[in-house]
Amino acid sequence: MSGMLKNALCWMDDRFPVTKVWNEHLAEYYAPKNFNWMYYFGSLAMLVLVNQIITGIFLTIHYKPDAKLAFDSVEYIMRDVEWGWLIRYMHSTGASAFFVVVYLHMFRGLIYGSFKKPRELVWIFGMIIYVALMAEAFMGYLLPWGQMSYWGAQVIVSLFGAIPYVGEDLALWLRGDYVISDATLNRFFAFHVIAIPLVLVILVFMHIVALHAVGSNNPEGIEIKKHKDDKGVPLDGIPFHPYYSVKDLVGVAVFLFFFALIIFYMPEMGGYFLEHANFIPANPLKTPDHIAPVWYFTPFYAVLRAVPDKFLGVVAMGAAIVVLFLLPWLDRGVNKSIRYRGPVFKAAIVAFVISFIGLGYFGMQPVTPVGTFFSRFFSIVYFAFFLLMPFYSNLAQDEYVPERVDEK
Ligand code: HEM
Repeated sequence: MSGMLKNALCWMDDRFPVTKVWNEHLAEYYAPKNFNWMYYFGSLAMLVLVNQIITGIFLTIHYKPDAKLAFDSVEYIMRDVEWGWLIRYMHSTGASAFFVVVYLHMFRGLIYGSFKKPRELVWIFGMIIYVALMAEAFMGYLLPWGQMSYWGAQVIVSLFGAIPYVGEDLALWLRGDYVISDATLNRFFAFHVIAIPLVLVILVFMHIVALHAVGSNNPEGIEIKKHKDDKGVPLDGIPFHPYYSVKDLVGVAVFLFFFALIIFYMPEMGGYFLEHANFIPANPLKTPDHIAPVWYFTPFYAVLRAVPDKFLGVVAMGAAIVVLFLLPWLDRGVNKSIRYRGPVFKAAIVAFVISFIGLGYFGMQPVTPVGTFFSRFFSIVYFAFFLLMPFYSNLAQDEYVPERVDEK
């Protein structure tokens, strides 16, 4: 480092802990040396978050949060603003990419037992991020003021009306009107553009601080802090920077390849990322034939529709999210990683994945007797996975669990 830069850094360090934070969280943060590709999704989630914030700022410059102007302002961005189409597609594809990345990130945590002691809070902060992300995406989808924006919001907000006693007042309070209207658009805009992103950024910060306090898990489920050298450095750890900062760039390159492919060649993804009905301006007098949320909500939407009673459906949908929070206490297995768990646990994970994807599929389809049957069946499997976990998670686990990464 040149003399001048060194002096500037010393000047900063005397006033603000730049080097200390850099070392604690990067250059001297020891991560297990056996991370695999499933560990790319944390840094990719950060990348997508930054993408959403930056493209969102540029969209806000031209977007008009007014029921009379919103739809046209989005068309204006797409057709007249220089590079506006790219910014908009980066943001709309970014929303779906966020959920792809976060679902894979959560799945990694699930199979390697990263939610278990001592990382319960890392998981809980992650779950709060997930709920905030759903609120963020839901409110963002209203902003283009298309048919699906309008009717999707109408369906979801009216669900709150099913809650006994307070429901109708609550729905009214959320909408700011008796139906979805300009008042709703304005408040959703405020939440989407500043309130929730702020909460998300703070939560991601807490997520990382909590993770760095206890250290990362890994595909073997080994606690690397158990074996340290005489300087206190974990024997199976390597400094995050430069080893993983460079390795993560490979993940970034692969991700950006697919991200660009979708943006340039199939930005609507055949109606899965941006639904066809959303290219028609919102019409409060005309309900679309088939109302379905975007793909990342459909597993929970299928649970809602699987229950005949509206209020109980809402309860079931809420419970499907709440059980995820309880995971650290439902899993009583001693071993962390799926590599050393019993066949029952492995089979349960497979059943869970099939039920989640199945629910996602049937949540997108119009209601049919077959769809309802499978939605009910998969909902039962989904809840059984969690509620029976205290009983099956400890069955027939491997006796041998390695203490060190290279021990095979
Ligand atoms: C904006 C969203 C999120 C961001 C930016 C984010 C970021 C990160 C990063 C950078 C890591 C460390 C690298 C890695 O292990 O991949 C991490 C670890 C972790 N995250 Fe997230 N995360 C997000 C959402 C979530 C969600 C929704 C959950 C689960 C509910 C979650 C659970 C975890 C767990 C359990 C770990 C520790 C993994 C381990 O040590 O094996 N995260 N996260």
